Amino acid sequence: MPIASPSSGDGSATSSPTPPLVRIPDLNAHVGAVVTVRGWITHLRSSGKIAFLVVRDGLGTVQAVLAKADVGPAIWDRYGQLTQEASVALTGTVRADPRAPGGFELTLSDVVVTGGSPIDYPIQPKEHGVDFLMDHRHLWLRSPRQAAILRVRSEIEQAIHDFFYARNFTHVDTPILTAAIGERSGLVSTEYFDEGTAYLAQTGQLYGEAAAAALGSIYTFGPTFRAEKSKTRRHLTEFWMIEPEVAFADSADNMRLQEDLVSYLVERVLSRRRRELDELERDVSKLEQVVPPFPRIDYTDAVEMLRTRGSSIEWGADLGAEDEALLVEGADRPVFVCNYPKEAKAFYMKENPADPRTVLCNDCLAPEGYGEIIGGSQREDDYDRLLARIVAEGLPVDAYGWYLDLRRYGTFVHSGFGLGLERCVAYICGLPHVRETIPFARMMNRLRP
Ligand code: 4AD
Ligand code: MG
Repeated sequence: MPIASPSSGDGSATSSPTPPLVRIPDLNAHVGAVVTVRGWITHLRSSGKIAFLVVRDGLGTVQAVLAKADVGPAIWDRYGQLTQEASVALTGTVRADPRAPGGFELTLSDVVVTGGSPIDYPIQPKEHGVDFLMDHRHLWLRSPRQAAILRVRSEIEQAIHDFFYARNFTHVDTPILTAAIGERSGLVSTEYFDEGTAYLAQTGQLYGEAAAAALGSIYTFGPTFRAEKSKTRRHLTEFWMIEPEVAFADSADNMRLQEDLVSYLVERVLSRRRRELDELERDVSKLEQVVPPFPRIDYTDAVEMLRTRGSSIEWGADLGAEDEALLVEGADRPVFVCNYPKEAKAFYMKENPADPRTVLCNDCLAPEGYGEIIGGSQREDDYDRLLARIVAEGLPVDAYGWYLDLRRYGTFVHSGFGLGLERCVAYICGLPHVRETIPFARMMNRLRP
């Protein structure tokens, strides 16, 4: 895109050098100087002699003032071409003004429309239905709330990498096209040349286990796919999962890693994304209480507690969303529910020697009704038991030969977990639904935009 330069030939020509292009957060370093800011118009207001333009450049927002008496009629007339979301190059003098949002204002000497926008911009400052907004997601992203969510998401992603890097974990990429099924939930599949059916990965875990035997401590960070036929506020068909896997770590070690990670992520957003949390009107006092240790409740005790709280859950069933919400009622930080019944969980979890009806595992339930944000377990490291579970689940044994090999060649105690990024973002941002936590959500009824 050509960079707007001060206009010439219309009576406002200037011989001064081209002003520097400045991003809005950096205006403070240019007080008194003439600069150019590029961005999109968010608000316009004019009294006939003086006009106020609010512009957003993706990093910040600034108000600019255009005075007819200062710029002359040619430039003043361009005000008439301005519409919400038009892209512009604004040139003017930076003034410090404590009353201005952000503390600075531009007194304009030039306005160039670099990309016009028709007056029918679909998203207006009024209530729109959520389906309408999701249909216009490509434009909805421009609103301050949505941009704040994506900044928090990015902060959390960066914090995850920083957390594991500082602990000497190796980041490992695992395949998306797979032959081995990882979880019980719905599969997205496609025919794969002469190799039969390929599944889009529901988890990177099985490959993470192989990598842990090579690298000690690893984590994966990638998209995962589940053909979930559930229209709930916490299910996507494509979501991002972070899956650490640690050699020689047992289930207790695994939970300590989870509480350290979750607390770190919350603290990191609190310290670096306070402005975004304010934009989202998040009650930060709730987040400030998220510090280790998190309470641990045995599944069997959880079922008893739930029944006293009115649930009809029977021992053996997985916890539903309502049960999870009931369990964390009144909790000031996430809660671990440990050692679920074998039949409620995946084939790879290690049998609990203290109660073989159960497996060594945990879910991490976020407070404020958010429910499961992490599922984790110690892995079955005994060849025969693992094979028996694969057979019992009716899984195709030949697709798991390589996975069983990890139990033949130097089997090892190991554990890991999966943190669902979107549920984590929803919780930290205080959002009612995961659809706003990812730039372009994929759900059973949504493939566009
Ligand atoms: O509990 P899940 O199914 O566990 C696994 O996939 C294991 N392989 C993880 C591991 O041990 N390495 O999923 C883990 C997390 C859930 O706690 C939830 O946060 C998220 O992934 N998740 C979803 N998020 C959005 N939409 C969905 N459909 C999700 N399904 C799971
Ligand atoms: Mg789970």
